[in-house]
Amino acid sequence: MLAQDSDIKSTIPAGFVLQPATVGDLPEMVAIETASFSDPWTARMFEGEMTGNQFARVLVLRRRDHQGGYGRLVGYLCYWLIFDELRIMNLAVQEADRRQGLARAMVVHAVQEGRRAGVRHALLEVRAGNPAARGLYRGLGFQETGVRKHYYRNPCEDAILMRADLVSENRAD
Ligand SMILES: CC(C)(COP(=O)(O)OP(=O)(O)OC[C@H]1O[C@@H](n2cnc3c(N)ncnc32)[C@H](O)[C@@H]1OP(=O)(O)O)[C@@H](O)C(=O)NCCC(=O)NCCS
Repeated sequence: MLAQDSDIKSTIPAGFVLQPATVGDLPEMVAIETASFSDPWTARMFEGEMTGNQFARVLVLRRRDHQGGYGRLVGYLCYWLIFDELRIMNLAVQEADRRQGLARAMVVHAVQEGRRAGVRHALLEVRAGNPAARGLYRGLGFQETGVRKHYYRNPCEDAILMRADLVSENRAD
């Protein structure tokens, strides 16, 4: 069972705003993606999720500037709400802005939206050699449920399957 929303930091920190990605965000997203992954998504792949996949949500996290407008893009999250499942598809935070709870806040946002949409469980795959992501999801109550051998390329690596149940026997809502 995933930790209840009230047990975990569930809000986007002050000074940041989470909003739907637009085509204009793609250069900044691709810059973070390329710096974060050895086998990065291309602009075309992000755009396909944003415009051609009815199940996908692509959100970007920006700093607010001093005038209350939108500043630098610091991270993004792509997930699918597909029937009773939430699937986390892509997530990254710019290196300089890591370890401030920003990834956790974005995933919690997705979980909250999923719960409102009636989702029953959340699923994802993560590289076996990605302790930051495995720690992030374990901290949110995800459990490691299996291994897909040699799932990733560049470099070839196993995928760890992770899953969280979003429905508590005790929840009233
Ligand atoms: C994984 C990633 C998204 C985490 O982003 P972040 O904003 O730094 O994460 P948070 O600050 O929300 O961290 C939440 C928790 O995750 C775990 N965690 C995050 N980074 C970690 C690290 N480098 N080592 C170990 N645990 C880590 C910790 O438990 C952390 O809680 P704590 O800071 O209270 O100890 C970021 O490191 C990243 O963009 N990495 C490259 C892309 C990537 O691997 N994406 C995930 C693909 S599934």
